[in-house]
Amino acid sequence: MRAHNHFRCTRSLARPALGALLMGAMLLALYGCGSGGKPRTSAARQASVPKYVTEPFTHVQQLVERGAQLVVADGCSACHLMHSSASTGPSFLRFAGYRVRLEDGRSQVVDERFMRAGLLDPRANELAGYDPRPMLAALARLHLRAHPAQLAALIAFIEQVGPEPPPE
Ligand code: HEC
Repeated sequence: MRAHNHFRCTRSLARPALGALLMGAMLLALYGCGSGGKPRTSAARQASVPKYVTEPFTHVQQLVERGAQLVVADGCSACHLMHSSASTGPSFLRFAGYRVRLEDGRSQVVDERFMRAGLLDPRANELAGYDPRPMLAALARLHLRAHPAQLAALIAFIEQVGPEPPPE
């Protein structure tokens, strides 16, 4: 139900194309809808954001933009956007490009292949220190295997908000 509210709210926002702007829009959406703050009108946003910023011009940018909408609509943002904790999962702000420790002791850098495996088969890479159940429940609802375009968009967005890999 919360996710549904978020969805309606982000759709009324302008459509920024770049990572930093996306994050800004997402945070606005979350604060604006989640905490009962004043919803922003799309007219007000359009007035302040130039057109060349709001119109994605490459395939990847369109994918990232779609991913940003899905991350809110599918409820991922509730667990992954702001902070990390055992039940809410790792923050996407420090995820793609970072090295994570797995339950079985291995460590791995989070890249496209890692995320795809985990999102298709939630048991593929269990992170050390997190409760796997919330993520399993989220994925059971979404059937990403049947929605490859949605999966690609989610991954593109997570990669976009994650920084370049830190030097080893
Ligand atoms: C209810 C909270 C919750 C929701 C909603 C949620 N996650 Fe997670 N997520 C977690 C937790 C907790 C973990 C760590 C689980 C583990 O691996 O032990 C996790 C792990 C992950 C991982 C890394 C591990 C893996 O399986 O590859 C990815 C990628 C991920 N989530 C993406 C998403 C995406 C995309 C969505 C939305 C479609 C989402 N999550 C929704 C809580 C959540």
